[in-house]
Amino acid sequence: MKKTILITGGAGFIGSHLVRLMVNKYPDYKILNLDTLTYAGNLENLRDIEGRPNYTFIKGDITDGAEMLRIFREHRPEGVIHLAAESHVDRSISDPLAFIRTNVIGTVNLLNAARELWKDNWEGKRFYHISTDEVYGSLGTTGYFTEETSYDPRSPYSASKASSDHMVRAWHHTYNLPVVISNCSNNYGPNQFPEKLIPLAINNIRHNKLIPVYGKGENVRDWLYVEDHANAIDLIFHQGKNGETYNIGGNNEWTNIDLIRKLCQVMDKALNRKPGESEKLITFVKDRAGHDKRYAIDSSKLMNELGWRPSLQFEQGLEKTVKWYLDNEEWLNSVITGEYANYYAQQYDNR
Ligand code: NAD
Ligand code: TYD
Repeated sequence: MKKTILITGGAGFIGSHLVRLMVNKYPDYKILNLDTLTYAGNLENLRDIEGRPNYTFIKGDITDGAEMLRIFREHRPEGVIHLAAESHVDRSISDPLAFIRTNVIGTVNLLNAARELWKDNWEGKRFYHISTDEVYGSLGTTGYFTEETSYDPRSPYSASKASSDHMVRAWHHTYNLPVVISNCSNNYGPNQFPEKLIPLAINNIRHNKLIPVYGKGENVRDWLYVEDHANAIDLIFHQGKNGETYNIGGNNEWTNIDLIRKLCQVMDKALNRKPGESEKLITFVKDRAGHDKRYAIDSSKLMNELGWRPSLQFEQGLEKTVKWYLDNEEWLNSVITGEYANYYAQQYDNR
């Protein structure tokens, strides 16, 4: 094997798409998927590649520093792509400490383990930290986040991600750890846990349940198809410059209400419903606390320096996503049980 790459959070939404891409594209890399399998981690996401000779799953919790050191010493990765995180803003509002533990302390444990393993020879090593555009805060109606935008996180989730970004840069400047960071906009696509807006709405529409839209639905997000994010990660991992940050976005802004209306149209078609039928399920609910108004990313650095482009138009991406959820009802049904049902009841039923 030419290289050993440790991907954290590979059983989650974005991680599983990245693991599949790397396993398929680089047969001479050894791909290690380190994941503790929280509610968001699901090995079903990777059934199609689990028997491959260049793929290994390791169950491990990044909040355990000693365990990380042991895993790094045993497997000796040359590259780390770090996605493991608590990722849902609403959960961060009800349980911020879980976000500090995983996103901040977990990241520091990985940085320490990489430093310990690589300190005598940085050559060919890379610690790639996957982050979010939410660290930049909230925009008004104009402007974009660039790599120079000051950090201004406003939710426990984004503050924990901002903190982890700072730690990664601190390990670079203080200990020379070879790092790269990317900050991406909202992802959508197959295998996303149905607590996030798009899969939640798809699931509710198929069951004729109300679609909860926070506030007036005027908040704006920039949506990127998950495989386009995975392609950007592959490019940045291999060609990004040491110590640099790259923004990744879809140049695809939607207010939540327009997005949900579009999704309703796609669902009406897919389910052979009368046009306008699914839209009747839209219901406006109490706004999220501290709800960021608008995120919008300027990805010109990534496009100009590394030649990345998103591959899908939004409509195509939405259609593909809807088709995947409707074709994979078993996957969806299996994740909407137990803990998720309690979470959903707490989050929406008292509104
Ligand atoms: P996800 O919640 O779907 O998956 C997270 C994965 O991390 C799960 O498999 C989970 O089991 C694992 N994990 C959680 N805590 C862990 C721990 N203590 N030890 C080991 N594994 C643990 O998240 P996602 O949406 O795929 O996001 C992946 C990364 O990308 C995150 O770092 C997130 O901040 C970032 N990101 C996400 C988006 C988005 O729109 N989803 C956008 C930009 C950046
Ligand atoms: P989400 O998918 O949670 O991503 P993020 O908060 O990281 O952007 O939410 C996307 C947008 O949709 C955000 O503005 C909040 C809103 N939203 C709803 O209106 N209703 C919902 O049920 C959810 C989950 C989100």
